[in-house]
Amino acid sequence: MDSRPIGVFDSGVGGLTVLKELKKKLPHEDYIYIGDTASFPYGSKSKDTIIELSKKKIENLIDMNAKIIVIACGTATSQALEEMQKIFNIPIIGIIDPTVKYLKQNNIRNIGVIATVGTIRSNGWQNYINKNIDNAHVMNKACPLLAPMAEEGWTENEIARLTIHEYLKEMDSKNLEALILGCTHYPLFKKLIENELGKNIDIINTGEMVAKELEKYLLENNLENDKTNKSEVNIYLTDIECNFLNVAKKLLENEEISIKKLQ
Ligand code: DGL
Repeated sequence: MDSRPIGVFDSGVGGLTVLKELKKKLPHEDYIYIGDTASFPYGSKSKDTIIELSKKKIENLIDMNAKIIVIACGTATSQALEEMQKIFNIPIIGIIDPTVKYLKQNNIRNIGVIATVGTIRSNGWQNYINKNIDNAHVMNKACPLLAPMAEEGWTENEIARLTIHEYLKEMDSKNLEALILGCTHYPLFKKLIENELGKNIDIINTGEMVAKELEKYLLENNLENDKTNKSEVNIYLTDIECNFLNVAKKLLENEEISIKKLQ
């Protein structure tokens, strides 16, 4: 048993879609969440910068006594996870591996990936899928406007609907079995994406896959918290701005949210 918190980070509100799934699956764990709002967006930055930013966040989470790190960010997973696993001794989970395990288990081969420019440019999903699933066909599409719109809270309005239509119209959805929301901001648009693509496509919220994987990892490594623990979530931002709180409240529903500035 291990009562230390789980450390989670992203560039902004997106990683809360992962945190929400972690809390559902592991309600007795404590969590520390860092939203690197001062450096948002990650999606348009170079690989070297993403590595530096990720390193700093992981150091912060280790200083706050995290027992495991969840990179709740597609951009940082695709460009920095490998490097981080080399540098740090602490276990680090990203969003790609747990999702690809799900695709493999379910025999899914015709896969769409939408993500940030940095993630698509890195070929992180494409390479990992091709390495693990024979005869997989991957269709990629960068959607750079979506993460800033999610930070703004524009996830259900007409502008969001039109933007999603514009990005997804090129996807050959007739042949698609699953669409990976390869940026953790995108589950906030799930309803509109479903409306655009129809109900037959498995729209994958990577947070759900990460939660399953994390539960398994904690159990196998005897790292779970006591089942009687009343979970605590502490959110730190590198820059305080009030919109984060509005989006966070909507997303985490009943959760009491306290936000502090990361010193
Ligand atoms: N939520 C992040 C991702 O999964 C980052 C979005 C951004 O900062 O551009 O890629």
